[in-house]
Amino acid sequence: MESLYERCKKVMPPVSGRATTLGVLGGKGSYLITEDGRKILDFASGVAVCNLGHNNEKIVKAAIDQVNTLIHGGHNVVYYESYVALAEKLVEITGGDTMVYFSNSGAEANEGALKLAKYITKRPGIIAFKGSFHGRTLGTTSITTSNSEYRKNYEGLLPSVYFAEYPYLYRTSYKYDGRNCPKEYFEQFNDIFKKIIEPYSVAAIIMEPIQGEGGYIVPPVEFLKYVREICDRYGIMLIFDEVQTGFGRTGKMFAYEHFGVRPDIFTTAKGIASGFPLSAIVAKKKYMENWVAGAHGGTFGGNPVSCAAALKTIEVLQEEAIENCSKMGRILKSKLESLMKKYKCIGEVRGIGLMLAIEIVDEDGNPNTDFTKKIILSSLEKGLLLLSCGCYKNVVRFIAPTTVSEEEIDKAITILDNVLEKL
Ligand SMILES: Cc1ncc(COP(=O)(O)O)c(C=O)c1O
Repeated sequence: MESLYERCKKVMPPVSGRATTLGVLGGKGSYLITEDGRKILDFASGVAVCNLGHNNEKIVKAAIDQVNTLIHGGHNVVYYESYVALAEKLVEITGGDTMVYFSNSGAEANEGALKLAKYITKRPGIIAFKGSFHGRTLGTTSITTSNSEYRKNYEGLLPSVYFAEYPYLYRTSYKYDGRNCPKEYFEQFNDIFKKIIEPYSVAAIIMEPIQGEGGYIVPPVEFLKYVREICDRYGIMLIFDEVQTGFGRTGKMFAYEHFGVRPDIFTTAKGIASGFPLSAIVAKKKYMENWVAGAHGGTFGGNPVSCAAALKTIEVLQEEAIENCSKMGRILKSKLESLMKKYKCIGEVRGIGLMLAIEIVDEDGNPNTDFTKKIILSSLEKGLLLLSCGCYKNVVRFIAPTTVSEEEIDKAITILDNVLEKL
């Protein structure tokens, strides 16, 4: 029988760039069941979407109850319970002085966030970061620089977008003492404001509080605090893209909580509804209140079923999964660090919670893309699904569900250990 992959290739373009050829019949918890009957330990979670594992029973029930009540209402036509209740919940858990707008995807939320910043400040400029990934629409492609392939043949993108260096301290070209963020990362803003765009023409600085596609890079706290300071000084909106980092992934509901830095606007998607399409822009009320009817919109944002699933997702995260994520994250990280001592190809172990990664290097410390591919392929052959990331595609990320057990972590580590030993 023809595989799902073979059938798909005939009717869909290669553009969706599948990471594997796996055809799956279903999923449960940390596992996917493939069409050839294999049980795969899934440390990709649909790219940080199924944060509560596959088909979590509580989410399934919440969604089915909502399907039986209302599937679509149209948020620009009527009001419905799951939509309003989810917005209330998000306001409650983000300080009480926020408002919420729902869309369908991370890119769409980021588009909205850029529009909101421009609308409120009436300024043209956007500063984003090198190594960033914010989505695939033309607007978000304009602020994405984790790979020039994403921009190829689309140049002539949004104007007035400028890029700053993200403190990727493992590969910094500046002098780094292993403790303090090099001063060049702070000073670069003076340079941008002096030579490229004066600060009062900048609407927003948009950044991932932990860079995702760019390589699971955790910036120093003082850097994020400094960016906040600059935004305050010049009336620039600070936008955090929490599309990948949000909803428990890092052992807190949102990654910004680790840094003690609050953005003016943040976007979230992926894990928000445990697999149902939904995204949200959360921003300070004083700005949202002035974003008037007609300035933004969309048909499907805030689908009732997605909102019901999101409400239940937050409940499960708060009651049990976030705590488990922190605990399992520490365990997984220390086991990866043990592997680093054993294998020279692991240059660094990094990340927070269950947003963890290892950087794969050659003998000279250079990014080793081919070897990374081999690790991922061999791991999958042995039943462990992993994804790569990083500008050089030499970072293996571990995106286990927040509900993962220690036994499953041990299983993953044993597979990885065997793979590394063999390779
Ligand atoms: C940080 C970040 N922002 C935005 C996006 C885009 O989200 P979506 O694919 O839902 O449009 C992604 C997706 O990987 C992401 O990781």
